[in-house]
Amino acid sequence: MAPMRRLQCFLFLTLTLISLLPAAALAASTTFNMSLPGCPNKCGNITIPYPFGTRPGCYRPGFDITCNESTTPAKAIMGTNIEVLDFNITSAEIRVLNFIGYVCYNQNSQQNDTWSTPFSNIGETKTYLFSHRRNKFTVIGCYSLAYINGAQGNGSYSSGCASFCQSLNSTTGNGGSCNGLGCCQTAIPAGLSYYEVSWGFNGNQAWSFNPCSYAALMQEDWYNFTVDDLVGNGFYERNQNNVPIVLDWAIRENGTCLASHVESSASPACQSIHSGCDNTTNGDGYICKCLQGYEGNPYVPNGCTDINECNIPNQYPCTGTCVNIEGNYECLCPKGTRGDGKAGNCTKIPENFPYPAKVAIGCILGVAVLVGICFLAIWHKQRRRYIKEKDEYKKYYEMMDNHLRVFGTKQIEIATNNFDENHIIGVGGHGKVYKGLLENNMAVAIKKSKEIDEVQRGEFVNEIILLSHINHKNIVRLIGCCLEVQIPMLVYEYVPNGTLFDLLHGKSKNRNRPISLGTRLRIAVESAEALDYLHSSITHSILHGDVKSANILLDDEYHAKVSDFGASNLLPVDDAQIVELVQGTRGYLDPECLCTQIITKKSDVYSFGVVILELITRKKAIYADNETGEKKHLASCFISRLSKNKIHDMWDVEIVTNDEKVNLVLQEISELAVQCLSVRGDDRPTMKQVAEELQKLLRFHTSLSSWQIDPEETDSLLSETKFDSVSDTPAFHSTNYMKVLEIDTEAPR
Ligand SMILES: *[C@@H]1O[C@H](CO)[C@@H](O)[C@H](O)[C@H]1NC(C)=O
Ligand SMILES: *[C@@H]1O[C@H](CO)[C@@H](O)[C@H](O)[C@H]1NC(C)=O
Ligand SMILES: *[C@@H]1O[C@H](CO)[C@@H](O)[C@H](O)[C@H]1NC(C)=O
Ligand SMILES: *[C@@H]1O[C@H](CO)[C@@H](O)[C@H](O)[C@H]1NC(C)=O
Ligand SMILES: *[C@@H]1O[C@H](CO)[C@@H](O)[C@H](O)[C@H]1NC(C)=O
Ligand SMILES: *[C@@H]1O[C@H](CO)[C@@H](O)[C@H](O)[C@H]1NC(C)=O
Ligand SMILES: *[C@@H]1O[C@H](CO)[C@@H](O)[C@H](O)[C@H]1NC(C)=O
Ligand SMILES: *[C@@H]1O[C@H](CO)[C@@H](O)[C@H](O)[C@H]1NC(C)=O
Ligand SMILES: *[C@@H]1O[C@H](CO)[C@@H](O)[C@H](O)[C@H]1NC(C)=O
Ligand SMILES: *[C@@H]1O[C@H](CO)[C@@H](O)[C@H](O)[C@H]1NC(C)=O
Ligand SMILES: *[C@@H]1O[C@H](CO)[C@@H](O)[C@H](O)[C@H]1NC(C)=O
Repeated sequence: MAPMRRLQCFLFLTLTLISLLPAAALAASTTFNMSLPGCPNKCGNITIPYPFGTRPGCYRPGFDITCNESTTPAKAIMGTNIEVLDFNITSAEIRVLNFIGYVCYNQNSQQNDTWSTPFSNIGETKTYLFSHRRNKFTVIGCYSLAYINGAQGNGSYSSGCASFCQSLNSTTGNGGSCNGLGCCQTAIPAGLSYYEVSWGFNGNQAWSFNPCSYAALMQEDWYNFTVDDLVGNGFYERNQNNVPIVLDWAIRENGTCLASHVESSASPACQSIHSGCDNTTNGDGYICKCLQGYEGNPYVPNGCTDINECNIPNQYPCTGTCVNIEGNYECLCPKGTRGDGKAGNCTKIPENFPYPAKVAIGCILGVAVLVGICFLAIWHKQRRRYIKEKDEYKKYYEMMDNHLRVFGTKQIEIATNNFDENHIIGVGGHGKVYKGLLENNMAVAIKKSKEIDEVQRGEFVNEIILLSHINHKNIVRLIGCCLEVQIPMLVYEYVPNGTLFDLLHGKSKNRNRPISLGTRLRIAVESAEALDYLHSSITHSILHGDVKSANILLDDEYHAKVSDFGASNLLPVDDAQIVELVQGTRGYLDPECLCTQIITKKSDVYSFGVVILELITRKKAIYADNETGEKKHLASCFISRLSKNKIHDMWDVEIVTNDEKVNLVLQEISELAVQCLSVRGDDRPTMKQVAEELQKLLRFHTSLSSWQIDPEETDSLLSETKFDSVSDTPAFHSTNYMKVLEIDTEAPR
């Protein structure tokens, strides 16, 4: 804004200066020299411009003027005695005083006075001619006929005019016009340089009320006829025998004008620059003119000066800002308008954008640009982050086995019907698990993280890496993954029969069917083998970290599939087998681990001990007592029962039989579980030992079903165990075993 205002100010000053300068010039030009240098330009109060002059050398030949200073004011005299009223350079005219011709009668036929001097001395230099445009031969009288006789070039000219009236009253209505009633006017031709008046009537029939008749060539617009001019010799006396007459003058003896109003060296009299010539309208020769836009005296050097049109607004109109320029002027329409200011035709410029609109548009544009920049910045950041993630994941991809499939977001969305609620099959600590159908109708479980921060992504990727290296029939197989999105997704094989937890504790559709001990043992063996596989993996030892029945899935033949490695941590083989506690589930949590906040392989063993207890008691890790309803810790309860040798009533009624051998198996399992639940981790068996012990028990139990049980073998089998409770082993009860076996084979699909 400030520079704008400064500019406006500058313009204003400039314009003011521009308009002031010529004004100063004009002020000077009021006294500008109309005469040649060193020549007087005044006679009395009459300005005498060159080519006229009063001294030799000050006038052009034929333009000499005498200044008679004996009168006041001094009179400019042309020729012998013709008084000049004024000179006009522009119109090439001078006005002089002319004598009035008259005749008076004191009776009809008695002329008592007459005067008629020929106006002849203007023709000496042939400079002047009577102006045929400005003068009329005028006759005043009620019984008058006057002739004008003159010279036109070498020829003669003669004309006349008659005027009559019945009475003075008959002229009163004329209102000043000279129409033949008491006054008559006639035009004269151009080129007239001399005239005289003669009278046509001898006598005056109107002598009684109009004794005198007058006739003269005079300036037409000067004279207004009145009745008073007919009374007595009023006209003569009022004008003191002088009426003005206009004479045309021109440069007669110096050729003609060859180019109108153009600066022409062929017109030597036109001395000023910015001057040109014009042929005179009266007689031979030419006159000089200042070019358009200039004024002054074209006959003197530098006589033509620029007209400051802006100072003559009535002559040079301008609505707006007038700017004078050399030879012309410009008229700038006022701000907000356009058009021809000289014609007063400045019209408002239709404003496309009024000020508020401009402001609004400006604001909107500004905001838009800002928003755009923000978006760009955000987009850039996101993109960089995305690229960074992609690069990161690329690294991970390379770390994975090649057989892992990489899924696109689109594929996953189609498979899960755009993450339909109905496809959710589980909600875990790390997010939701959806069931999905791939193109080939293959069912998969898709684990979608809730949200991902650096830590969680680490875990997620950790699991991918772990699982990509794991190939065990009892561990849920990872089929592929989708890392395109911010929330990475893992695609697992779909395990159709739910979790072990569901099977044992309820929600499973199969809960009403009894589950045989054989099935339970097999599930335990398979889970133990899976965990052992994890623990004894060659490259990295893997802790599951969250062993529980809910993380053991069952396929359609009730084979165990250990899942959910969310809390898994890699253990370097040689390092101390400790990892900071990440998570765990109540009831399964290693009490030692609770104190140290560190999970070890033995923590998994402890948790697995709880799973074994669940398998044989069919009670939850934290269960409500059937009678009191109070919450109980399965592990603690079982241990205390075992010490009181009263575990039998905790066993699941579905698997308890009268068969001593079966009960012996149950007893062995119980003791194995309790070993796993030892308070000190070091007292617990390793996962390998657990798996082997369970395998033995399964074999033994299976052998029972084949009716090929050799008591010795039984003994040897049992003696191999490191448990010294063999002596307490109850006898196997064969009849009940049959029943169990039957159920086992009819295990639901
Ligand atoms: C104008 O006339 C005066 C006196 O006649 C003379 O002194 C002066 O120099 C003239 N100026 C110009 C510009 O001719
Ligand atoms: C010159 O002076 C006379 C008398 O003072 C006056 O009547 C006349 O109008 C003046 N002429 C000019 C051209 O000023
Ligand atoms: C000047 O005028 C006076 C009075 O009108 C006259 O007497 C005299 O002769 C004139 N002089 C010239 C030189 O014309
Ligand atoms: C000279 O004549 C022109 C045109 O007739 C007129 O506009 C102008 O006013 C006259 N100048 C004088 C000083 O009488
Ligand atoms: C001519 O006669 C008229 C009327 O009788 C008279 O008014 C006038 O003065 C006379 N003029 C002369 C010069 O005698
Ligand atoms: C007029 O007369 C003069 C001399 O008497 C002569 O030189 C001139 O050519 C004549 N002009 C015309 C137009 O007849
Ligand atoms: C002219 O008019 C005047 C009054 O307006 C009157 O007194 C007189 O008689 C009239 N004269 C003639 C000749 O009609
Ligand atoms: C002649 O009459 C016109 C209007 O009718 C007037 O403007 C003008 O001044 C008069 N002329 C004289 C010399 O009285
Ligand atoms: C015009 O006049 C000038 C001087 O006044 C003279 O030198 C020139 O010869 C004349 N030209 C003609 C065509 O008469
Ligand atoms: C002036 O008159 C001469 C001769 O009649 C002619 O040749 C010339 O073109 C005229 N000039 C103009 C500007 O009319
Ligand atoms: C004003 O200008 C417009 C076009 O610019 C034209 O149509 C209109 O006749 C002009 N009006 C006048 C009074 O000159």
